[in-house]
Amino acid sequence: MDPENFKIIGVTRDIVSIEILDSKQFDNHFNIGSYIKIPFQSDSSDFIIGVIKNYKIKNLDSTDPDTPAGENQFIIEVELIGSYRVLSEGKVEFERGAHGIPLPPNNGIELLSDEDFNKIYSCKLKDSEKFVFSDLAQNNAIAVPVNGNKLFNKHFAIVGSTGSGKSHSVASIIQKAIQEKNGSYDDLNNSHIVIFDIGGEYREAFPDANIIDSSNIKIPYWLFDSDELGDLFIESNEDNSHNQVSQFRYAVTENKKHTNPDIDSKNIYFDSPFRFNIDEVIRYIKNVNNEVIGKLEGENVPKSISGELIPDRIPKYFTDDIDFCEQSRTKATKAGPGPFKGHFERFILRLDITRNNPRLRFLFENADSLTLEDVLKQFIGYTKSKANVTIFDLSGIPFEVLSVTVSLISRILFEYGYYYKKMLDGSSECDTPLLLIFEEAHKYVPRSGLTKYRASRTAIERIAKEGRKYGITLGIVSQRPAEISETIFSQCNNFIAMRLTNPDDQNYVRKLLPDTLGDLTNYLPTLKAGEALLIGESIILPSLVKIHMPNQEPKSPDIDYLDIWKKQWKDVNFENVTKDWKNVT
Ligand SMILES: Nc1ncnc2c1ncn2[C@@H]1O[C@H](COP(=O)(O)OP(=O)(O)OP(=O)(O)O)[C@@H](O)[C@H]1O
Ligand SMILES: [Mg+2]
Repeated sequence: MDPENFKIIGVTRDIVSIEILDSKQFDNHFNIGSYIKIPFQSDSSDFIIGVIKNYKIKNLDSTDPDTPAGENQFIIEVELIGSYRVLSEGKVEFERGAHGIPLPPNNGIELLSDEDFNKIYSCKLKDSEKFVFSDLAQNNAIAVPVNGNKLFNKHFAIVGSTGSGKSHSVASIIQKAIQEKNGSYDDLNNSHIVIFDIGGEYREAFPDANIIDSSNIKIPYWLFDSDELGDLFIESNEDNSHNQVSQFRYAVTENKKHTNPDIDSKNIYFDSPFRFNIDEVIRYIKNVNNEVIGKLEGENVPKSISGELIPDRIPKYFTDDIDFCEQSRTKATKAGPGPFKGHFERFILRLDITRNNPRLRFLFENADSLTLEDVLKQFIGYTKSKANVTIFDLSGIPFEVLSVTVSLISRILFEYGYYYKKMLDGSSECDTPLLLIFEEAHKYVPRSGLTKYRASRTAIERIAKEGRKYGITLGIVSQRPAEISETIFSQCNNFIAMRLTNPDDQNYVRKLLPDTLGDLTNYLPTLKAGEALLIGESIILPSLVKIHMPNQEPKSPDIDYLDIWKKQWKDVNFENVTKDWKNVT
């Protein structure tokens, strides 16, 4: 097309209005969203780059029947997004940002060519940093490379309404990451990715993954920290919850010392990752709840029914179910209630119910034989058959412990990163960096301060704030960005924004993006499945892209209702359905 077919008729700092002189010359590449370049001056090697934002029709046909219908005149509005300079040897330099066009404006406008695009996208990338998982939405001949180091070493977010293609994008990106190699070795590469899969859809996309689900998950309860144990066992809205907390903490800490006699007790705290025995802790609480103190001369310590005095509660309260003596005001048998007598009835009931809940068997079974090292290896795929990707299929985890389970796994992985770095002692950079992908993140890191999500929120927010230092990055995936903790989102440096239909979510995403990109977000409601706005530090030019389809797709949650309904009536084996439900395995 003739570059002189355009005339600039108005310029602001970031918008240029351009009249099209001969609309017959139009070709169909010229569309809303097309990128164009405008030379700074005539014969200049400097250009301004912009995106066509909209167009208007200038002279509508006259309504006067006697006037012959004229040609429509079009005016396009172009949003400026950066400048582009051609250097020697055909190299280019691209800078983001709009600064208008100097006076007088120069015409000679052209569409950005494929070659221009390729040069712009690559101009700040070394070959070894290039990571490609999408093409330009308007032209699939143009691959859009991002800086793989910058994408993965800072947190990123993938947001979009249901069905916009988030899970497919995760699968596509991770599949590519695990295939990247800096040589021709046969073994696995050194990528380590953990996916929290709440819908159970990723195992099909990663057949070689280390799959952890409700049937094989090994999480010993003794690894839980104070918040997590509190979530599991303590009802925070009960009147005496502070007494419950203090006695429980005391019992757990003392029991850790009791169970690990080889460790110097000065090094054991409530949160230290040492084993303790939950049954002994529960026994301690029951004894404290029943406690009677002998009040005769020289006693003033707990006293059993046989008259035995118990000056030291520990370890006896862990090992024996004590029958205490009767309370009495009689001079010869004087005995009074212990400080917590009768206070913990409901607490004990809850401890017993949780301890014996068959759905929580995975927390208590094998807990005594598991080591911290076993747990870590399981969590990051250092199992018998090594795996780049570990999938926590959380679909079978009881919802009442989902938050604490996610919290524990995330926290243990964070602490692994922390101690790994400490072990390296500054001698080298972290050489096994991890990426944690949280699918449907709004479910466990919501904005709301609901206590039931406190544990997972705290753990993930900590990674958002400090994880980078220890080689731990987050990939946050969500349908409802507006419902996710702001702390988490504000730490994300790269965004893959897919179709978003909810106005609250659109506004939220708009707020997170730099001002110059404001208008690009207008595309969000109209994107097709798999299309995304790619924004952030890893990409030189914010772009509308089509993400590559993954080689193996995640399982679609879509059910073909009509197809299934059209079939003949199907009988249901109700006994099998309720088997798991009732836990009669
Ligand atoms: N890159 C793509 N190219 C073409 N089609 C795609 C692409 N990504 C996804 N799709 C189509 O969109 C559908 C929905 O994708 P996906 O399950 O990834 O969406 P989602 O955003 O994860 O949805 P949900 O929020 O419900 O989990 C898929 O069945 C697939 O056919
Ligand atoms: Mg999905």
